[in-house]
Amino acid sequence: MGRSFRYVIIGGGVAAGYAALEFTKKGVSHGELCIISDEPVAPYERPALSKGFLLPEAPARLPGFHTCVGANEERLTPNWYKEHGIELILGTRVESIDVRRKTLLTTTGETISYKFLIIATGSRAVKLEEIGIKGSDAENVCYLHDLADATNLVNIMQKCSGGNAIVVGGGYIGMECAASLVANKINVSIVFPGPHCMERLFTPKIASYYEDFYKSKGVNFVKGTSLSSFEFNSEGMVTGANLRDGRQLPADMIVVGIGARPNTDLFTGQLTFENRGIKVNNHLQSSNPSVYAVGDVASFPVEFSGDTRRVEHVDAARRTARHAVSAIMDPNNTLEFDYLPFFYSRVFSLSWRFYGDNVGEVVHFGDFSGSKFGAYWKNNGSLVGCFLEGGSDDDYVKIAKAVRDKAMVVDLGELLRVDQKPPLSP
Ligand code: FDA
Repeated sequence: MGRSFRYVIIGGGVAAGYAALEFTKKGVSHGELCIISDEPVAPYERPALSKGFLLPEAPARLPGFHTCVGANEERLTPNWYKEHGIELILGTRVESIDVRRKTLLTTTGETISYKFLIIATGSRAVKLEEIGIKGSDAENVCYLHDLADATNLVNIMQKCSGGNAIVVGGGYIGMECAASLVANKINVSIVFPGPHCMERLFTPKIASYYEDFYKSKGVNFVKGTSLSSFEFNSEGMVTGANLRDGRQLPADMIVVGIGARPNTDLFTGQLTFENRGIKVNNHLQSSNPSVYAVGDVASFPVEFSGDTRRVEHVDAARRTARHAVSAIMDPNNTLEFDYLPFFYSRVFSLSWRFYGDNVGEVVHFGDFSGSKFGAYWKNNGSLVGCFLEGGSDDDYVKIAKAVRDKAMVVDLGELLRVDQKPPLSP
Protein backbone atom coordinates (compact mmCIF):
# COMPACT_ATOMS: atom_id res chain seq x y z
CA MET A 1 0.00 0.00 0.00
CA GLY A 2 1.44 3.37 -1.03
CA ARG A 3 0.47 6.83 0.06
CA SER A 4 -2.60 8.67 -1.10
CA PHE A 5 -3.13 12.42 -1.59
CA ARG A 6 -6.15 14.38 -2.71
CA TYR A 7 -3.99 16.52 -5.03
CA VAL A 8 -0.72 15.51 -6.70
CA ILE A 9 1.45 17.73 -8.89
CA ILE A 10 4.03 15.95 -11.08
CA GLY A 11 6.99 18.26 -11.72
CA GLY A 12 8.47 20.83 -9.40
CA GLY A 13 9.14 23.82 -11.64
CA VAL A 14 7.59 27.24 -12.11
CA ALA A 15 4.00 26.06 -12.57
CA ALA A 16 4.20 23.74 -9.54
CA GLY A 17 5.38 26.59 -7.30
CA TYR A 18 2.60 28.93 -8.39
CA ALA A 19 0.04 26.13 -8.10
CA ALA A 20 1.20 25.43 -4.53
CA LEU A 21 0.71 29.05 -3.49
CA GLU A 22 -2.74 29.11 -5.09
CA PHE A 23 -3.70 25.89 -3.28
CA THR A 24 -2.87 27.51 0.05
CA LYS A 25 -4.81 30.65 -0.88
CA LYS A 26 -7.82 28.46 -1.65
CA GLY A 27 -7.53 26.71 1.72
CA VAL A 28 -5.89 23.35 1.00
CA SER A 29 -5.62 21.29 4.19
CA HIS A 30 -2.40 19.86 5.61
CA GLY A 31 -1.55 16.53 4.03
CA GLU A 32 -3.80 16.98 0.99
CA LEU A 33 -1.18 18.15 -1.54
CA CYS A 34 1.96 16.42 -2.75
CA ILE A 35 4.53 17.66 -5.31
CA ILE A 36 6.90 15.16 -6.91
CA SER A 37 9.96 16.54 -8.67
CA ASP A 38 13.06 14.95 -10.11
CA GLU A 39 15.01 18.12 -9.29
CA PRO A 40 16.65 18.13 -5.86
CA VAL A 41 15.38 21.61 -4.90
CA ALA A 42 12.00 23.23 -4.26
CA PRO A 43 10.34 25.03 -7.22
CA TYR A 44 12.24 28.09 -8.45
CA GLU A 45 11.99 30.81 -11.08
CA ARG A 46 13.64 29.05 -14.03
CA PRO A 47 14.27 32.25 -16.07
CA ALA A 48 16.80 33.33 -13.42
CA LEU A 49 19.12 30.54 -14.64
CA SER A 50 19.98 32.37 -17.85
CA LYS A 51 20.10 35.81 -16.23
CA GLY A 52 21.06 36.57 -12.60
CA PHE A 53 22.46 33.08 -11.97
CA LEU A 54 25.18 33.53 -14.62
CA LEU A 55 26.39 36.95 -13.50
CA PRO A 56 30.06 37.13 -12.49
CA GLU A 57 29.29 39.58 -9.65
CA ALA A 58 26.69 38.93 -6.94
CA PRO A 59 24.98 36.10 -8.85
CA ALA A 60 21.47 34.98 -7.93
CA ARG A 61 21.49 31.81 -5.84
CA LEU A 62 18.84 29.76 -4.09
CA PRO A 63 16.97 30.34 -1.86
CA GLY A 64 16.85 33.85 -3.39
CA PHE A 65 14.82 32.91 -6.46
CA HIS A 66 12.40 30.24 -5.29
CA THR A 67 8.91 30.79 -6.67
CA CYS A 68 6.99 33.02 -6.41
CA VAL A 69 9.41 35.99 -6.23
CA GLY A 70 9.07 36.53 -10.00
CA ALA A 71 5.53 37.77 -9.47
CA ASN A 72 6.38 39.66 -6.26
CA GLU A 73 4.54 37.08 -4.20
CA GLU A 74 5.68 35.07 -1.22
CA ARG A 75 9.00 33.20 -1.66
CA LEU A 76 8.32 29.53 -1.14
CA THR A 77 11.33 27.99 0.58
CA PRO A 78 11.36 24.28 1.53
CA ASN A 79 10.30 25.39 5.01
CA TRP A 80 7.22 27.11 3.58
CA TYR A 81 6.02 23.77 2.15
CA LYS A 82 6.61 22.13 5.53
CA GLU A 83 4.69 24.84 7.36
CA HIS A 84 1.76 24.47 4.99
CA GLY A 85 1.64 20.69 5.25
CA ILE A 86 2.59 20.20 1.59
CA GLU A 87 4.56 17.03 0.90
CA LEU A 88 7.54 17.88 -1.29
CA ILE A 89 9.09 14.72 -2.74
CA LEU A 90 12.33 15.90 -4.34
CA GLY A 91 14.98 14.16 -6.41
CA THR A 92 12.36 11.60 -7.38
CA ARG A 93 11.15 10.89 -10.86
CA VAL A 94 7.67 9.69 -11.73
CA GLU A 95 8.33 6.63 -13.82
CA SER A 96 4.86 5.59 -14.89
CA ILE A 97 1.29 6.56 -14.36
CA ASP A 98 -2.11 4.98 -14.82
CA VAL A 99 -4.67 7.74 -15.22
CA ARG A 100 -7.59 5.26 -15.21
CA ARG A 101 -6.54 3.89 -11.82
CA LYS A 102 -5.32 7.32 -10.61
CA THR A 103 -1.99 5.95 -9.45
CA LEU A 104 1.62 6.62 -10.27
CA LEU A 105 4.91 4.92 -9.60
CA THR A 106 8.10 6.73 -8.66
CA THR A 107 11.72 5.71 -9.28
CA THR A 108 12.03 4.95 -5.57
CA GLY A 109 9.40 2.25 -6.05
CA GLU A 110 6.63 4.11 -4.24
CA THR A 111 3.06 3.96 -5.53
CA ILE A 112 1.07 7.13 -4.95
CA SER A 113 -2.62 7.56 -5.64
CA TYR A 114 -4.54 10.81 -6.12
CA LYS A 115 -7.99 12.23 -6.67
CA PHE A 116 -6.77 15.10 -8.86
CA LEU A 117 -3.52 15.21 -10.79
CA ILE A 118 -1.78 18.31 -12.16
CA ILE A 119 0.81 17.63 -14.83
CA ALA A 120 3.56 20.26 -14.61
CA THR A 121 6.49 18.37 -16.12
CA GLY A 122 7.66 21.27 -18.32
CA SER A 123 10.09 20.66 -21.11
CA ARG A 124 13.63 19.49 -21.75
CA ALA A 125 16.42 20.88 -23.90
CA VAL A 126 16.79 19.38 -27.38
CA LYS A 127 20.13 17.56 -27.62
CA LEU A 128 22.60 17.97 -30.50
CA GLU A 129 22.31 14.24 -31.19
CA GLU A 130 18.66 14.83 -32.11
CA ILE A 131 19.86 16.95 -35.05
CA GLY A 132 22.57 14.47 -35.98
CA ILE A 133 25.61 15.99 -34.22
CA LYS A 134 27.73 14.05 -31.72
CA GLY A 135 29.40 15.61 -28.70
CA SER A 136 26.84 16.36 -25.96
CA ASP A 137 28.82 14.20 -23.53
CA ALA A 138 31.97 16.33 -23.78
CA GLU A 139 32.69 18.10 -20.51
CA ASN A 140 32.81 21.56 -22.13
CA VAL A 141 29.51 21.24 -24.04
CA CYS A 142 26.80 22.92 -21.97
CA TYR A 143 23.04 22.97 -22.04
CA LEU A 144 20.87 25.19 -19.90
CA HIS A 145 17.60 23.91 -18.59
CA ASP A 146 17.84 23.20 -14.89
CA LEU A 147 19.85 24.16 -11.84
CA ALA A 148 22.40 21.39 -12.43
CA ASP A 149 22.99 22.66 -16.00
CA ALA A 150 23.34 26.24 -14.77
CA THR A 151 25.80 25.24 -12.03
CA ASN A 152 27.84 23.31 -14.59
CA LEU A 153 27.77 26.27 -17.00
CA VAL A 154 29.08 28.60 -14.29
CA ASN A 155 31.94 26.18 -13.52
CA ILE A 156 32.90 25.86 -17.19
CA MET A 157 32.69 29.64 -17.71
CA GLN A 158 35.05 30.19 -14.78
CA LYS A 159 37.58 27.85 -16.38
CA CYS A 160 37.29 29.57 -19.77
CA SER A 161 37.75 33.22 -18.83
CA GLY A 162 39.50 34.99 -21.72
CA GLY A 163 38.81 32.02 -24.02
CA ASN A 164 36.37 31.35 -26.87
CA ALA A 165 32.79 30.15 -26.63
CA ILE A 166 30.49 29.09 -29.42
CA VAL A 167 26.80 29.54 -28.76
CA VAL A 168 24.69 27.26 -30.95
CA GLY A 169 21.26 28.79 -31.58
CA GLY A 170 19.99 32.36 -31.88
CA GLY A 171 16.81 32.11 -29.81
CA TYR A 172 16.14 33.11 -26.18
CA ILE A 173 18.64 30.77 -24.57
CA GLY A 174 21.37 31.49 -27.11
CA MET A 175 20.99 35.25 -26.88
CA GLU A 176 20.76 35.36 -23.08
CA CYS A 177 23.72 33.00 -22.67
CA ALA A 178 25.79 35.00 -25.17
CA ALA A 179 25.23 38.13 -23.05
CA SER A 180 26.22 36.25 -19.89
CA LEU A 181 29.35 34.81 -21.50
CA VAL A 182 30.42 38.34 -22.49
CA ALA A 183 29.85 39.48 -18.90
CA ASN A 184 32.16 36.62 -17.85
CA LYS A 185 34.88 37.92 -20.21
CA ILE A 186 34.60 35.14 -22.77
CA ASN A 187 34.80 35.78 -26.55
CA VAL A 188 31.53 34.70 -28.12
CA SER A 189 30.57 33.51 -31.58
CA ILE A 190 26.89 32.78 -31.98
CA VAL A 191 25.93 30.43 -34.81
CA PHE A 192 22.46 29.95 -36.25
CA PRO A 193 20.99 29.08 -39.65
CA GLY A 194 18.47 31.92 -39.97
CA PRO A 195 18.99 35.43 -41.36
CA HIS A 196 18.76 37.05 -37.92
CA CYS A 197 18.42 36.31 -34.21
CA MET A 198 15.08 35.57 -32.50
CA GLU A 199 13.64 34.80 -35.89
CA ARG A 200 10.18 33.76 -34.72
CA LEU A 201 9.51 37.04 -32.93
CA PHE A 202 11.87 39.81 -34.03
CA THR A 203 11.46 41.67 -37.32
CA PRO A 204 14.73 42.13 -39.28
CA LYS A 205 14.82 45.77 -38.09
CA ILE A 206 14.42 44.85 -34.41
CA ALA A 207 16.94 42.01 -34.73
CA SER A 208 19.44 44.31 -36.35
CA TYR A 209 19.28 46.64 -33.33
CA TYR A 210 20.05 43.80 -30.89
CA GLU A 211 22.70 42.25 -33.12
CA ASP A 212 24.46 45.64 -33.43
CA PHE A 213 24.30 46.02 -29.65
CA TYR A 214 25.83 42.55 -29.16
CA LYS A 215 28.49 43.30 -31.79
CA SER A 216 29.41 46.46 -29.87
CA LYS A 217 30.13 44.10 -26.94
CA GLY A 218 32.39 41.99 -29.17
CA VAL A 219 29.97 39.18 -30.11
CA ASN A 220 30.60 37.59 -33.52
CA PHE A 221 27.41 36.61 -35.40
CA VAL A 222 27.78 33.64 -37.75
CA LYS A 223 24.46 33.49 -39.58
CA GLY A 224 22.95 31.47 -42.39
CA THR A 225 24.88 28.32 -41.49
CA SER A 226 24.88 25.69 -38.77
CA LEU A 227 27.08 23.36 -36.85
CA SER A 228 28.13 20.22 -38.69
CA SER A 229 30.59 18.57 -36.25
CA PHE A 230 33.06 19.21 -33.44
CA GLU A 231 36.82 18.76 -33.20
CA PHE A 232 37.96 16.99 -30.01
CA ASN A 233 41.31 16.73 -28.21
CA SER A 234 42.69 13.50 -26.75
CA GLU A 235 40.77 14.08 -23.50
CA GLY A 236 37.47 14.26 -25.33
CA MET A 237 37.10 18.03 -24.91
CA VAL A 238 35.70 20.03 -27.80
CA THR A 239 38.38 22.32 -29.29
CA GLY A 240 36.51 23.69 -32.29
CA ALA A 241 33.45 23.50 -34.49
CA ASN A 242 33.08 22.76 -38.18
CA LEU A 243 30.25 24.62 -39.86
CA ARG A 244 28.19 23.50 -42.83
CA ASP A 245 29.52 26.37 -44.96
CA GLY A 246 33.08 25.03 -44.49
CA ARG A 247 34.15 27.55 -41.87
CA GLN A 248 35.86 26.45 -38.65
CA LEU A 249 35.68 28.18 -35.28
CA PRO A 250 37.97 27.60 -32.30
CA ALA A 251 36.24 26.79 -29.00
CA ASP A 252 37.07 26.38 -25.33
CA MET A 253 33.40 25.82 -24.54
CA ILE A 254 30.06 25.35 -26.31
CA VAL A 255 26.61 26.41 -25.18
CA VAL A 256 23.71 24.74 -26.96
CA GLY A 257 20.28 26.39 -27.17
CA ILE A 258 18.46 24.72 -30.04
CA GLY A 259 14.98 24.38 -28.60
CA ALA A 260 12.91 22.43 -26.12
CA ARG A 261 10.46 19.53 -26.16
CA PRO A 262 7.56 19.06 -23.72
CA ASN A 263 7.91 16.19 -21.20
CA THR A 264 4.73 14.31 -22.02
CA ASP A 265 5.91 10.72 -22.65
CA LEU A 266 4.26 9.43 -19.46
CA PHE A 267 0.85 10.23 -20.91
CA THR A 268 1.18 8.93 -24.46
CA GLY A 269 -1.87 6.82 -25.26
CA GLN A 270 -3.64 7.91 -22.06
CA LEU A 271 -4.64 11.52 -22.79
CA THR A 272 -5.52 13.54 -25.89
CA PHE A 273 -2.63 15.51 -27.41
CA GLU A 274 -2.40 18.60 -29.61
CA ASN A 275 0.66 20.64 -30.72
CA ARG A 276 2.84 17.99 -29.00
CA GLY A 277 1.18 19.02 -25.73
CA ILE A 278 -1.61 17.72 -23.53
CA LYS A 279 -4.84 19.10 -24.86
CA VAL A 280 -6.85 20.87 -22.18
CA ASN A 281 -10.06 22.89 -22.11
CA ASN A 282 -10.32 26.45 -20.83
CA HIS A 283 -10.22 25.16 -17.26
CA LEU A 284 -6.91 23.40 -18.00
CA GLN A 285 -8.63 20.04 -17.69
CA SER A 286 -7.40 17.24 -19.94
CA SER A 287 -9.39 14.54 -21.71
CA ASN A 288 -9.44 12.74 -18.32
CA PRO A 289 -11.56 14.82 -15.90
CA SER A 290 -9.26 14.13 -12.92
CA VAL A 291 -6.15 15.29 -14.77
CA TYR A 292 -5.13 18.90 -15.42
CA ALA A 293 -2.10 20.12 -17.37
CA VAL A 294 -0.30 23.45 -16.85
CA GLY A 295 2.82 25.26 -18.02
CA ASP A 296 4.92 24.13 -20.98
CA VAL A 297 3.04 20.83 -21.47
CA ALA A 298 -0.47 22.30 -21.74
CA SER A 299 -2.04 22.91 -25.12
CA PHE A 300 -4.84 25.30 -24.25
CA PRO A 301 -7.45 27.35 -26.12
CA VAL A 302 -6.43 31.00 -26.61
CA GLU A 303 -9.51 33.08 -27.20
CA PHE A 304 -7.42 36.11 -28.20
CA SER A 305 -6.21 34.37 -31.35
CA GLY A 306 -8.94 31.75 -31.69
CA ASP A 307 -6.55 28.81 -31.71
CA THR A 308 -5.10 26.21 -29.37
CA ARG A 309 -1.47 26.58 -28.43
CA ARG A 310 1.32 25.51 -26.17
CA VAL A 311 3.33 28.37 -24.71
CA GLU A 312 6.84 27.77 -23.36
CA HIS A 313 7.02 30.93 -21.28
CA VAL A 314 6.96 31.67 -17.62
CA ASP A 315 3.90 33.91 -17.65
CA ALA A 316 1.81 31.10 -19.15
CA ALA A 317 3.17 28.67 -16.54
CA ARG A 318 2.16 30.97 -13.68
CA ARG A 319 -1.28 31.76 -15.04
CA THR A 320 -2.24 28.24 -16.15
CA ALA A 321 -1.16 26.92 -12.74
CA ARG A 322 -3.27 29.40 -10.82
CA HIS A 323 -6.27 28.85 -13.04
CA ALA A 324 -6.12 25.05 -12.85
CA VAL A 325 -6.01 25.18 -9.05
CA SER A 326 -8.98 27.56 -8.95
CA ALA A 327 -10.92 25.27 -11.26
CA ILE A 328 -10.13 22.20 -9.12
CA MET A 329 -10.75 23.81 -5.73
CA ASP A 330 -13.84 25.75 -6.75
CA PRO A 331 -15.79 23.74 -9.35
CA ASN A 332 -18.64 26.28 -9.22
CA ASN A 333 -16.32 28.94 -10.59
CA THR A 334 -16.93 28.80 -14.33
CA LEU A 335 -14.48 31.58 -15.20
CA GLU A 336 -12.62 30.50 -18.34
CA PHE A 337 -8.88 30.84 -18.79
CA ASP A 338 -8.30 34.00 -20.78
CA TYR A 339 -4.71 34.34 -21.91
CA LEU A 340 -2.90 37.15 -23.67
CA PRO A 341 0.44 35.87 -25.03
CA PHE A 342 3.28 37.68 -23.25
CA PHE A 343 7.04 37.20 -23.63
CA TYR A 344 9.98 39.14 -22.27
CA SER A 345 13.73 39.09 -22.08
CA ARG A 346 16.51 41.06 -20.41
CA VAL A 347 20.07 41.12 -21.74
CA PHE A 348 22.90 43.54 -20.95
CA SER A 349 21.16 46.84 -20.18
CA LEU A 350 18.30 46.00 -22.56
CA SER A 351 14.83 44.84 -21.67
CA TRP A 352 11.84 44.18 -23.89
CA ARG A 353 8.32 42.86 -23.68
CA PHE A 354 5.93 41.55 -26.29
CA TYR A 355 2.17 41.12 -26.02
CA GLY A 356 -0.19 39.37 -28.44
CA ASP A 357 0.63 37.92 -31.84
CA ASN A 358 3.11 38.99 -34.49
CA VAL A 359 0.80 38.48 -37.46
CA GLY A 360 -0.38 40.90 -40.14
CA GLU A 361 1.24 44.17 -41.08
CA VAL A 362 4.10 45.39 -38.91
CA VAL A 363 4.74 49.04 -38.11
CA HIS A 364 7.94 50.10 -36.36
CA PHE A 365 7.96 53.10 -34.07
CA GLY A 366 10.27 55.04 -31.79
CA ASP A 367 13.93 55.84 -31.95
CA PHE A 368 15.96 52.83 -33.08
CA SER A 369 19.15 54.75 -32.41
CA GLY A 370 17.99 55.48 -28.86
CA SER A 371 16.73 53.36 -26.03
CA LYS A 372 12.97 53.18 -26.55
CA PHE A 373 11.42 51.75 -29.66
CA GLY A 374 9.21 48.96 -30.84
CA ALA A 375 6.81 47.58 -33.38
CA TYR A 376 3.18 46.79 -33.52
CA TRP A 377 1.23 44.42 -35.70
CA LYS A 378 -2.20 45.15 -37.14
CA ASN A 379 -4.52 42.67 -38.68
CA ASN A 380 -7.79 43.69 -40.35
CA GLY A 381 -7.41 47.20 -38.91
CA SER A 382 -6.98 46.01 -35.31
CA LEU A 383 -3.93 45.96 -33.12
CA VAL A 384 -2.96 42.31 -32.49
CA GLY A 385 0.58 42.54 -31.11
CA CYS A 386 3.11 44.98 -29.75
CA PHE A 387 6.82 44.79 -28.98
CA LEU A 388 8.49 47.46 -26.87
CA GLU A 389 12.12 47.85 -25.83
CA GLY A 390 12.99 50.13 -22.94
CA GLY A 391 9.43 50.93 -21.82
CA SER A 392 8.38 51.96 -18.34
CA ASP A 393 6.02 49.76 -16.29
CA ASP A 394 3.28 52.19 -17.20
CA ASP A 395 4.03 51.85 -20.94
CA TYR A 396 3.81 48.08 -20.71
CA VAL A 397 0.48 48.23 -18.90
CA LYS A 398 -0.85 50.50 -21.66
CA ILE A 399 0.31 48.39 -24.58
CA ALA A 400 -0.92 45.19 -22.92
CA LYS A 401 -4.36 46.77 -22.53
CA ALA A 402 -4.42 48.12 -26.07
CA VAL A 403 -3.49 44.69 -27.46
CA ARG A 404 -5.97 42.86 -25.24
CA ASP A 405 -8.71 45.26 -26.37
CA LYS A 406 -7.63 44.71 -29.98
CA ALA A 407 -7.82 48.47 -30.28
CA MET A 408 -8.52 49.88 -33.73
CA VAL A 409 -5.39 51.49 -35.10
CA VAL A 410 -6.43 55.07 -35.80
CA ASP A 411 -3.03 56.46 -36.65
CA LEU A 412 0.05 54.40 -37.28
CA GLY A 413 2.20 57.04 -35.60
CA GLU A 414 0.08 57.24 -32.46
CA LEU A 415 1.87 54.44 -30.64
CA LEU A 416 5.05 56.47 -30.79
CA ARG A 417 3.56 58.67 -28.13
CA VAL A 418 2.84 55.69 -25.95
CA ASP A 419 4.09 57.38 -22.80
CA GLN A 420 2.15 60.60 -23.30
CA LYS A 421 -1.39 59.47 -23.94
CA PRO A 422 -3.28 56.29 -24.64
CA PRO A 423 -2.13 55.51 -28.17
CA LEU A 424 -5.22 53.88 -29.54
CA SER A 425 -8.93 54.20 -29.30
CA PRO A 426 -10.65 50.95 -28.29
P1 FDA B 1 9.46 23.69 -15.61
O1 FDA B 1 10.45 23.26 -16.66
O2 FDA B 1 9.70 24.96 -14.92
O3 FDA B 1 9.36 22.54 -14.51
C1 FDA B 1 9.12 21.20 -14.83
C2 FDA B 1 9.62 20.35 -13.69
O4 FDA B 1 9.15 19.02 -13.82
C3 FDA B 1 11.13 20.26 -13.61
O5 FDA B 1 11.54 20.42 -12.30
C4 FDA B 1 11.40 18.84 -14.10
O6 FDA B 1 12.62 18.35 -13.62
C5 FDA B 1 10.20 18.12 -13.53
N1 FDA B 1 9.88 16.83 -14.15
C6 FDA B 1 9.76 16.55 -15.47
N2 FDA B 1 9.41 15.25 -15.64
C7 FDA B 1 9.30 14.72 -14.40
C8 FDA B 1 8.96 13.42 -13.93
N3 FDA B 1 8.65 12.41 -14.74
N4 FDA B 1 8.95 13.21 -12.59
C9 FDA B 1 9.25 14.21 -11.72
N5 FDA B 1 9.57 15.46 -12.13
C10 FDA B 1 9.59 15.71 -13.46
N6 FDA B 1 10.32 32.17 -20.10
C11 FDA B 1 10.04 33.50 -20.17
O7 FDA B 1 8.89 33.84 -20.35
N7 FDA B 1 11.03 34.43 -20.03
C12 FDA B 1 12.32 34.08 -19.82
O8 FDA B 1 13.19 34.96 -19.72
C13 FDA B 1 12.65 32.70 -19.75
N8 FDA B 1 13.92 32.29 -19.50
C14 FDA B 1 14.22 30.95 -19.44
C15 FDA B 1 15.51 30.55 -19.19
C16 FDA B 1 15.83 29.19 -19.13
C17 FDA B 1 17.24 28.77 -18.86
C18 FDA B 1 14.82 28.21 -19.36
C19 FDA B 1 15.17 26.74 -19.36
C20 FDA B 1 13.52 28.61 -19.60
C21 FDA B 1 13.20 29.97 -19.63
N9 FDA B 1 11.89 30.40 -19.85
C22 FDA B 1 11.61 31.75 -19.90
C23 FDA B 1 10.81 29.41 -20.00
C24 FDA B 1 10.14 29.16 -18.66
O9 FDA B 1 11.09 28.99 -17.65
C25 FDA B 1 9.25 27.93 -18.77
O10 FDA B 1 8.24 28.21 -19.72
C26 FDA B 1 8.64 27.56 -17.42
O11 FDA B 1 9.66 27.18 -16.52
C27 FDA B 1 7.64 26.43 -17.58
O12 FDA B 1 7.20 26.02 -16.31
P2 FDA B 1 6.75 24.51 -16.05
O13 FDA B 1 6.43 24.43 -14.62
O14 FDA B 1 5.78 24.10 -17.08
O15 FDA B 1 8.07 23.65 -16.34
